[in-house]
Amino acid sequence: MPRSEPIKAVRGMRDILPRERAIWRVAEKAAADVARSFGYAEIVTPVIEHAELIERVGEDTDAVAKELYRFDDRGGRHLALRPEATAGVVRAYFEGHLNQEPPPARLFLIGPMFRYNRPQKGRYRQFFQLDVEAIGSDSPALDAEVIEIAATWLHELGLRELRLELNTIGDSKCRPAYLELLRAYYRPLQDQLHGDCQRRLETNPLLLLDCKVPQCQPFKVDAPRITDHLCEECTVAWAAVRRLLDASGIEYRLDPYLVRGLDYYTRTVFEIYPANGEGAQDALGGGGRYDGLAEAEGWPPTPGVGFAGGLDRVTELVKAGGAEVIAAPAAEVVVLADAGLDVAAADVARICRTVRSVAVDYESKSLKAKMRSANKLGARWVLLLSAAEVERRVVQLKEMASGEQVEVGWADLPSHLA
Ligand code: HAM
Repeated sequence: MPRSEPIKAVRGMRDILPRERAIWRVAEKAAADVARSFGYAEIVTPVIEHAELIERVGEDTDAVAKELYRFDDRGGRHLALRPEATAGVVRAYFEGHLNQEPPPARLFLIGPMFRYNRPQKGRYRQFFQLDVEAIGSDSPALDAEVIEIAATWLHELGLRELRLELNTIGDSKCRPAYLELLRAYYRPLQDQLHGDCQRRLETNPLLLLDCKVPQCQPFKVDAPRITDHLCEECTVAWAAVRRLLDASGIEYRLDPYLVRGLDYYTRTVFEIYPANGEGAQDALGGGGRYDGLAEAEGWPPTPGVGFAGGLDRVTELVKAGGAEVIAAPAAEVVVLADAGLDVAAADVARICRTVRSVAVDYESKSLKAKMRSANKLGARWVLLLSAAEVERRVVQLKEMASGEQVEVGWADLPSHLA
């Protein structure tokens, strides 16, 4: 690379600049507040996990097979940047002995995830999720609970025009027989399917239902539906989830083709879209039950259910909806001191900082230019400081909006600015 070329951000990675952070902070705070109000406690897990942890739970899925950021560290360990949080949270649940506490463990996490996919609007290689997991119980009430958390969070952010899609995909008892039916149905049609679907027909036929390629669409309507082939337990759980959602007034649409991209799901699966959205890139969040995940990771069989919402897409939609999130000025007070008075300016700033955010302008510019910068910064006040004022331990306090200026003793600044 020629020396003169500035080095730009890595493809698919983006900066969230201060003016956008305001909206992000609102979304993150609402996420944490809502999760806590349902009794969920925050957990932080590493961004890096053993590649095997991720690969074991999703060999057939795109997020893993094609999109995993995989690398070897200097010690030769096979590692990966997490593409999602659930596998790591379940690992932490056991390693942190949360399984010895009364179930379920109700956990939430907010953090970056990584998928090596083709970047486009709403799809990034580093993106952020709110992840919510209830581990250790198979109660369908928890399926409804995580859906309610998701819906409440989005509602709090003013997103009202949403579509919740719901399905069940059975469990290890009823799904194998259903998958055989599905294979039997699709085998005679194999030549007419697109390449990926031809391959998936034998490995993971459920994904054929999720396929969006036009040439595969006509065959879906007559394909057998899992809801007609559920075992007794899955039938009972499926009815309970819907009854609980009805009782909490959450609207949903049954989508027999919703199977989700990750392979660890059992029973309930769901996704949330903007009401007018179409493509898969629009999903604001999704989740479901994963009763086989713990075992796939090598832990004792343990049920769980969860949800993840995409903060990049959610904040984008909140912004598009014209929500007024006014970024607070980086500094409410700016101290403008004459040359050579840096120490005094820092002292004054320290006094004000007890009640307001303060920045000192240390640039060697004219007073006029400094006033202009303070104005641009959105400062409510400026403090003007000359050698004579330092001597008398006073400042000129000027309110930007009114232009009013008063002399204030340093010790009295906190009460003037409060
Ligand atoms: P997921 O559907 O793969 O589920 O991702 C959840 C959400 O993360 C998506 O609906 C979307 O909003 C956001 N998202 C995914 N990929 C990207 C991307 N490349 N760029 C921007 N946003 C993205 C999971 O991750 C599961 N772990 C959810 C879960 C939790 N299931 C059970 N517990």
